[in-house]
Amino acid sequence: MTDVVHTRTDLATNLAAGAGEVAVVMTMGALHEGHRQLMRVARERNAFVVVTIFVNPLQFGPNEDYAKYPRTLAVDVEACRAEGVDLVFAPDRDEVYPDGRPQVTMNPGPLGEILEGASRPGHFSGMLTVVQKLLLLTRADRAYFGEKDFQQLTLIRRMVRDLELDVEIVGVPTVREPDGLALSSRNRFLSPAERRAAGALSQALREGATHRDAESVLRTAGKILADEPGVRVDYLALTGIDLSGPPIEGPARLLVAAKVGATRLIDNVGLRLATDA
Ligand code: PAJ
Repeated sequence: MTDVVHTRTDLATNLAAGAGEVAVVMTMGALHEGHRQLMRVARERNAFVVVTIFVNPLQFGPNEDYAKYPRTLAVDVEACRAEGVDLVFAPDRDEVYPDGRPQVTMNPGPLGEILEGASRPGHFSGMLTVVQKLLLLTRADRAYFGEKDFQQLTLIRRMVRDLELDVEIVGVPTVREPDGLALSSRNRFLSPAERRAAGALSQALREGATHRDAESVLRTAGKILADEPGVRVDYLALTGIDLSGPPIEGPARLLVAAKVGATRLIDNVGLRLATDA
């Protein structure tokens, strides 16, 4: 049975009834197979699974898509039911921010300034602030996040380490369409032509990741992106797995952000670099 609650009081009451380890899957709704995969992985290992559905105004910039972000609560609840979720917490903004915009917020530090942070000032501060609040409100023992948002996952892990938070963070691999496009709530904004062009992002990452030296990785991926006129690249970056500066050897991450029409998409893959390649 999936209960749906909208207030922090009802959340607390329903949590008290649940026994054993509590897992949380945080989302902004418009749920797709990527979100559902997080729920399935959480379901396997935990006695009680909470899904939060909240479009967090704090992590959207003034010119971003907060107002037009898809809101589909009724079908989202059905998806949670189908995945055997115990509790859905779908608060409104006053419930999460009863005093309006919080005065005290999380500071993501230098990792919050690069890549997504460079294009979206304040985004990661707003994201970490709501993640910390939702961890506390749900009293989660484990929290599940997608590798799709790799910088987000990295920053959440960093926050938990740096601030001694008592929660286990679990990363879940990206769920993709058959052509490789990473599932995203924003994909629904793509026209058929844009949807075809968007395939270049995952294709570039996939082909780039077949190489072992940094220069070939970036050249291969960069060419595929440059050859697709429907894609305007914001960044293509090769980093260490902690998002540190350009690696030469060992595990690495290749990340891309691009605009396809009016829609901004991100994606990333893991790879391994070798000096003798
Ligand atoms: P949202 O974009 O709704 O994503 C919710 C969770 O689903 C995140 O952990 C995200 O990485 C994961 N996810 C999205 N697409 C995925 C895919 N294709 N494969 C696997 N996982 C995927 O990320 C947020 O919301 C917000 O920033 C949030 C953490 C909820 C804080 O507001």
